[in-house]
Amino acid sequence: MKVLGLETSCDETAACILESPRRILSNVISSQIALHHEYGGVVPELASRRHVEMMGPVIEESLTRAGCDLTSVDLISVTVGPGLLGSLLMGVTFAKTLSYAIEKPLIGVNHLEAHFYAPFLEDPELKFPLVSLIVSGGHTLLVWVKGLGQYEILGCTFDDAAGEAYDKVAKLLGLGYPGGPVIDQLAQKGNPKVFRLPKPYLSKNSLDFSFSGLKTAVLYLVKGYGSRNTGSTPFKKGRIEDLAASFQEVVVEVLTKKCMIALEKTGVENLAMGGGVAANSRLRERLTELAQKKGFHLSLPSKTLCTDNAAMIAALGLARFEAGLPGEPLEANPKLKIRHMHLIPLR
Ligand code: KG4
Ligand code: ZN
Repeated sequence: MKVLGLETSCDETAACILESPRRILSNVISSQIALHHEYGGVVPELASRRHVEMMGPVIEESLTRAGCDLTSVDLISVTVGPGLLGSLLMGVTFAKTLSYAIEKPLIGVNHLEAHFYAPFLEDPELKFPLVSLIVSGGHTLLVWVKGLGQYEILGCTFDDAAGEAYDKVAKLLGLGYPGGPVIDQLAQKGNPKVFRLPKPYLSKNSLDFSFSGLKTAVLYLVKGYGSRNTGSTPFKKGRIEDLAASFQEVVVEVLTKKCMIALEKTGVENLAMGGGVAANSRLRERLTELAQKKGFHLSLPSKTLCTDNAAMIAALGLARFEAGLPGEPLEANPKLKIRHMHLIPLR
């Protein structure tokens, strides 16, 4: 069975051909980073227009690379939410039209749920149940993934998402958009112990996140306030690598600590990651060290499968289709929630 996956929830136009059970025949991603760079963030109107232009060529490229044509597609799987309304509308409308034209079934999937499935595409040893850390520009979630369609949210962010904190800190340091990869690079040349920044753990054993105070602390340092109160070294322009490293160390420490608490609370032995921040080199390094030390199974997808892609959309669509589970309603839904999710009371 061949599945055409389509993803347009934000600023990536992506198409993939997946052959069951999980062989990626092609995985094409057209990024809009250059388009949005000068605005310091994604401009929704520009994003949806670019999706319209790119969808046809991206699908054609995915078919060519997979060595097949539309007649060999058995199922279409498309992201219906959450994301930007205009961007989602473009993908859903295109998928509906294509499904009608080639007379093949169409399944709608949740973008976040698809991030839980991306690690399975490369890691044959990964099994349910697992704890999934989803860290992107729009989301920071710790989820107990018990099986297909069985999820419990363990924690989420109260304010900024982890990637959003990277992007905002990069913006205030004049480093452009997206900020994560730039800060990641700079931090490799810096000393993480130079600047003292608050570590937002929230209450003891809390699995929720809050990154806006950390971002404000960086802002104050850069503006020259407060270093006397916190005892931190005052910021000077020449120390941007040290500031990047100090900021990143706090983010990584908070994320990894909460992952360890989640594994302990649930008794689960598998940890997987998804979302753009999962591509962060220090986060990957630290989790790898902890997995070796504590003996849990760590599944780190390649960077292409961490960031937004259509392979994970095809994989989830196929899994739901084969299991006889319903897809999402075939309407763009920017605020789509994950079904069968429950909030675990914090202890
Ligand atoms: O999952 P993604 O591609 O798109 C969504 O937000 O849905 O994630 C993009 C986010 C951006 O905030 C970007 O700054 C961050 O992921 N990011 C990183 C790295 N690469 C991308 N953050 C930290 N380190 C990285 N290497
Ligand atoms: Zn995403």
